[in-house]
Amino acid sequence: MTPPKAMIGPSVLASDLSNLVGESQRVLAAGADFLHLDVMDGHFVPNLTFGAPVIASLRKGLDNKDAIFDVHLMVTNPEKWVEDMANAGADIFTFHVEVTSVGEDLTPLINNIKSKGMKVGLAIKPNTPVTSVYKYLDLLDLVLVMTVEPGFGGQSFMGDMMSKVEDLRKRCPEMDIEVDGGLSMSTISTAAAAGANMIVAGSSVFKSTDVAQAIADLRNGVVENR
Ligand code: DX5
Ligand code: ZN
Repeated sequence: MTPPKAMIGPSVLASDLSNLVGESQRVLAAGADFLHLDVMDGHFVPNLTFGAPVIASLRKGLDNKDAIFDVHLMVTNPEKWVEDMANAGADIFTFHVEVTSVGEDLTPLINNIKSKGMKVGLAIKPNTPVTSVYKYLDLLDLVLVMTVEPGFGGQSFMGDMMSKVEDLRKRCPEMDIEVDGGLSMSTISTAAAAGANMIVAGSSVFKSTDVAQAIADLRNGVVENR
């Protein structure tokens, strides 16, 4: 069985947001596999960032029209934003399993996201058991295991989340498993060994003096430690 591709996605939250297009192009030119875009509503998490209008502007402004937009929705009502995110140019729509407004069964929402041509991911916060995504695994393109409490960049990686990654990797050898929060050269081997292949990295990429090297090192960190 082929292990899924090692992919590094800088989180633009750690970039100079006054120059979002330039910062995105900088990391794409340096080898980023996707851009991770953190949408926060000030309700699901105690912070506000940006929404579909900013993402649509970024999509228009980028030279690289094929850049993969991995949108991480930390919002209470993800179902409200499916159409807008699809129109804005999102490629992956990842929302949190903890949302309650959509009710018990997330299948209709998952199917709606797919019908708009996007991939779908389900994210779990640190205190949420991995069992909460089991019944959706066949429908999902990826599971995002949060390795910090969502809301802010620059926090410390929670190594005790790796049992969730290991469990998911055993169940789904070929699925994309994403980790987000505190990923750097000091934590990448732990995440890779557990089975993560999609790596979100904010601070460790944007604050690096050599972005291309930072991205290449993280990718090697996945390939060499899994
Ligand atoms: C946290 C966000 C992350 C964050 C990661 O709520 O989902 O994507 O930007 O930032 P670092 O890599 O700095 O922990
Ligand atoms: Zn994120």
